[in-house]
Amino acid sequence: MGVMIYQISENRQIPLFALSFYLLTLSMMNTMTYSRILGIGSYLPTKRITNDDLAQMVETSDEWISQRTGIKARHIADDSEKTSDLALKAAQNALSQANIHPNEIDLIIVGTVTGDYAFPSTACLVQQKLGITNRCPAFDIQAACAGFMYAMTMADAYIRGGLAKKALIIGAETLSRIVNWQDRNTCVLFGDGAGAAVLGASDEPGIIHSKMCADGAFESVLHMNGRMNNGEWTGAKFINMDGQAVFKFAVKSLAEVAQETLNEANFPAEKIDWLVPHQANSRIIDATAEHLGLPREKVILTVAEHANTSAASIPLALDEGIRTGKIQRGQHLLLEGIGGGFAWGAMLLRY
Ligand code: UT7
Repeated sequence: MGVMIYQISENRQIPLFALSFYLLTLSMMNTMTYSRILGIGSYLPTKRITNDDLAQMVETSDEWISQRTGIKARHIADDSEKTSDLALKAAQNALSQANIHPNEIDLIIVGTVTGDYAFPSTACLVQQKLGITNRCPAFDIQAACAGFMYAMTMADAYIRGGLAKKALIIGAETLSRIVNWQDRNTCVLFGDGAGAAVLGASDEPGIIHSKMCADGAFESVLHMNGRMNNGEWTGAKFINMDGQAVFKFAVKSLAEVAQETLNEANFPAEKIDWLVPHQANSRIIDATAEHLGLPREKVILTVAEHANTSAASIPLALDEGIRTGKIQRGQHLLLEGIGGGFAWGAMLLRY
């Protein structure tokens, strides 16, 4: 039986089976592994404090808080709820949406600045509370309000590099424990909550591009000293912030990083279906949307009800966008946010 021959050029031929083998190998090499969101979940403590409630505690008003920040209410953990408890509930919701058994998870990363202990990490506590016995790596990332995006970026690298197949990423905070409830400059801004995502390896694009940044020169503008001990804060207790300085830097850096992320991905802003920003201040969010030429109808806004929940704010907003039917499978989302450090970034993904 003769071997079928493929003519490459005038004077070069190869057997057809060799060509097929070559093309198959090439196509396998070109198969990219992406990480896609398989499920999202969140949890908000039931106790809700409105601006009017706060006006009973400090010299402020619903009018001032609403106009300057867009915040109307915030949720506050009760005394028995630690950050890991909030994280657990968000994780359970994300796992159930993804239809994934906890023991299938092979990586856990929690973004938080209010972990239960100095160590073990909140991620280890969540692993244990979920009953995961497969000894998967679990650790926390501290990048303040950018913590969830930093954690997603790291999980994406694990998955693309073949080190994980199904990752649980959580942003969880009990900021109410590190807020000075006598300081009207800060206490009106923050809330508690948790959000989680299950990321899975996929041939289809999920996370397309992310750009994380940090500049430690701004330590004095937004910081706090101290440590959690069994859910209680020890040391210098409160968040310390120069609000105007943070505001100015946030408006400039978020517009820049959002644009750079899109440019590097060669993705036009008009193709973004939803902007899912960190929810600190509606005026900062409006400025970023305006810079990108996105109308408010394309922005997921939860700041009114959640206030600033730091690392939890983006996954909380994602979950709300999905549960309310706004965000649909296949749509393109741009996440962005900034927090203490400064640490900030943006992430383009296909849901
Ligand atoms: O997640 C990242 C971290 N944080 C942020 O993104 C926050 C960024 N910054 C901001 O959102 C805004 O700067 C704030 C909402 C914090 C403050 O808004 P502002 O427009 O920058 O107000 P301000 O700090 O310049 O204060 C204006 C006035 C001051 O009074 P005087 O000095 O003009 O008499 C404040 O004492 O408003 C006063 N003030 C308040 N009044 C009523 C400050 N806090 C309050 C309050 N209620 N809660």
